[in-house]
Amino acid sequence: MAFLRSSVSLSRLLATLMLLIILAAERRVCIRIPERIIETAGDVPNNQSLKTAVFALGSFWRSEAVFGCLNGVVQTTVGYAGGSKINPEYRSLGDHAESVQVIYDHRLISFRQLLEIFWSSHDYRQVFGQGPDVGNQYRSIIFTNGTEEFRLAVASKEREQTKSKSSSVTTQILPLGKFYSAEPEHQKFELKRRPFLLQLIGNLPEEELERSRLAAKLNGYAAELCPPKIQRQIDAKINEIIKKGWPILRDL
Ligand SMILES: *[C@@H]1O[C@H](CO)[C@@H](O)[C@H](O)[C@H]1NC(C)=O
Ligand SMILES: *[C@@H]1O[C@H](CO)[C@@H](O)[C@H](O)[C@H]1NC(C)=O
Repeated sequence: MAFLRSSVSLSRLLATLMLLIILAAERRVCIRIPERIIETAGDVPNNQSLKTAVFALGSFWRSEAVFGCLNGVVQTTVGYAGGSKINPEYRSLGDHAESVQVIYDHRLISFRQLLEIFWSSHDYRQVFGQGPDVGNQYRSIIFTNGTEEFRLAVASKEREQTKSKSSSVTTQILPLGKFYSAEPEHQKFELKRRPFLLQLIGNLPEEELERSRLAAKLNGYAAELCPPKIQRQIDAKINEIIKKGWPILRDL
C-alpha cells in the first residue's frame, strides 16, 4: 500500500513537472509573440473615460505634435475654433484660430496636466502669433467646457501671469464651441513628412491615420516634440523593430 501510494504521488509529481515544463515552454513563446502582434485593442478605450479638450497655441501642425505624444491621449485632430465663420478653410479661416482637438482618457491624464503642457509648449506672451507665424490665427486660447475646467484654466493663467511680471499673458479663455476639422493634408502633418514612419505602421488609409492613437504619438515623435523620456522609448522601440526585421509597429 505504502509503495502504491508513493508511486501514485510520484506519477502525480511527474505529471505536475511535465505540466510546468509545458507551461514554461508556452510562456517562452508567449513572451516572444506579443512584440509582433500586440493588437490595437487598447486603442479603443471605454468611451466613458474619454474627454475632449481643445487648445490653440500657434501653428496647429506643431500643436498636434505636442499633445499627440502624451500617454493618455488617444486621438488628435487639427482644425479651426474660436471664431464665428461657418465652415472655415485653411486659406480662409476668418476669425478662427488654428487649434488642436485632443481626446484623452481622464483616468490617465487630467485637464490640469494638459494645461501644464499647454503653458510649457508656447510663448503665450507674444501677441497674436508664435515666432515667425504672426496673425490672429496663431493666437493662444484655452477652450473650457463647464465651470470646473474654466476655474482650472483661470487659475493656471493667473499663475503664469505672476511668473511673467514684465509682459502680459495674451491667452484667451473661451467656452468650448464648435470645432471644425481641418483638411486632411494638415492632419498628422509632421508624420506625413516621414514616409519611413508611415510605412512602419502599415501605411494606414487617411481616415485611420486621423483616428489612430499610434499615429498621434508618432506624429509627435516625428516633430521631436515628445517629452525626452517618451522620445527615447520610441527610438528604442523602432531600433528594436528594425533589428528584428519585423516590419509593422502596432503599439508603443
Ligand atoms: C464611443 O463608442 C461609439 C460606439 O461604439 C463610437 O461610435 C464612438 O466613436 C465612440 N467614441 C469615442 C470618442 O471613441
Ligand atoms: C462637455 O461636458 C459635458 C459634461 O461633462 C459632456 O457631456 C459634453 O460632451 C462635453 N462637450 C464636449 C464638446 O466635449
